[in-house]
Amino acid sequence: MSKIIRQKIAVTYDFPVAFTRNALAPDNETLAGIFPPGASGPHRLAVAVDSGVVGAFPGLMRDIEAYFTRHPVARLAAPVLTVPGGERCKADLSAYQAVLDLIFEARLCRQSYLLVVGGGAVLDAAGFAAATAHRGVRLIRMPSTALGQNDAGVGVKNAVNYFGRKNFLGSFAPPFAVVNDFALLDGLPENERRAGLAEAVKIALIKDKVFFDELFAHRAALNAFEQAPFERSIERCAELHLEHIATGGDPFEFGSSRPLDFGHWSAHAMEEATSGALGHGCAVAVGVALDSVYSRLAGLLPEADLTRILAILPDLGFAPWHPALETLDMEASIESFREHLGGRLFLSMLTGIGSRVEINDVDFGLMRRAAAMLRERFS
Ligand SMILES: NC(=O)c1ccc[n+]([C@@H]2O[C@H](COP(=O)([O-])OP(=O)(O)OC[C@H]3O[C@@H](n4cnc5c(N)ncnc54)[C@H](O)[C@@H]3O)[C@@H](O)[C@H]2O)c1
Ligand SMILES: [Zn+2]
Repeated sequence: MSKIIRQKIAVTYDFPVAFTRNALAPDNETLAGIFPPGASGPHRLAVAVDSGVVGAFPGLMRDIEAYFTRHPVARLAAPVLTVPGGERCKADLSAYQAVLDLIFEARLCRQSYLLVVGGGAVLDAAGFAAATAHRGVRLIRMPSTALGQNDAGVGVKNAVNYFGRKNFLGSFAPPFAVVNDFALLDGLPENERRAGLAEAVKIALIKDKVFFDELFAHRAALNAFEQAPFERSIERCAELHLEHIATGGDPFEFGSSRPLDFGHWSAHAMEEATSGALGHGCAVAVGVALDSVYSRLAGLLPEADLTRILAILPDLGFAPWHPALETLDMEASIESFREHLGGRLFLSMLTGIGSRVEINDVDFGLMRRAAAMLRERFS
């Protein structure tokens, strides 16, 4: 005889995602408002900043110190740490280790805070350190890239690369809070800002026709990064990612279905094949174009919708075709994507703008025709 106790645990996460401008300006209360008023004096705080942000905003370190002097909601318990920005901080464990050292030296405990200002890569590496030190110190993310603000920084995951495999080591760990400061995006080169638009188009296509219509109507202004429509696109895209995590039924990705990865199977493969020369945003734009044409050829997507998709991408400054698509080993890329999902293959295809269906098998003949169509039209 054996006995089985069925253990059930439900944990609710509740964290704010704020949108503001100049979060560290002395009179901006957004960040200070995140710290719960504590009877036991100010909370301990350590701060890690992406080197790219420090380069673009040389006064930032001083602003951080001044902010927490003016708002004594938290006490800086160690000097601000600079973390090398970009994928190199995930490539080995040195950035992860440096943030662990910071947490140790600042004597942070589980009730203390780590504030991280940076792109998706620094947020991932530092977030992994925050999640693993003491089994989790409170992480406040301040994403500093467009992709960070509308996608990577508002999610519930972190990771570093290991064994040469992307995101091999990591965890699911919702943050304590996220503060999106639009002013940080002013420091970004154009291609990094544009990357945010690719994710906005992606999520609009699978989830929200009204948002797509809005992006389409403002495509010229978005291409010029006009402040109001650009910030609105970041905010709505972040909101849709948040909604998906909260209501999609699988926040910690136990299943294999990953609708937010629309257009990403070929994007990942092309990024790898070009050793990153084709950036994530540009690769996603090609991937979205490819899977949209496939959806049309498979009889799923109306022609009029495809026409709008293939119009918005170039109008937003993206090339819907890239030579890396020509040499893409589609079978191997799909197989590697399936492995990445774990289990069965699930790919989202479009049935209209704002609606999708999942397929479990790819017709490679059709997929090659889709790639050829893009080459004919856009090469
Ligand atoms: N955890 C998740 O859910 C999730 C989701 C999507 C992507 N990601 C990860 O995010 C990473 C990509 O992130 P990314 O697109 O934000 O790029 P990134 O973090 O690689 O940053 C790109 C470059 O911009 C610099 N930079 C950052 N902010 C800046 C600013 N305000 N001004 C000037 N330069 C600045 C960085 O130093 C870096 O050189 C990948 O590692 C990816 O795996 C994670
Ligand atoms: Zn993406």
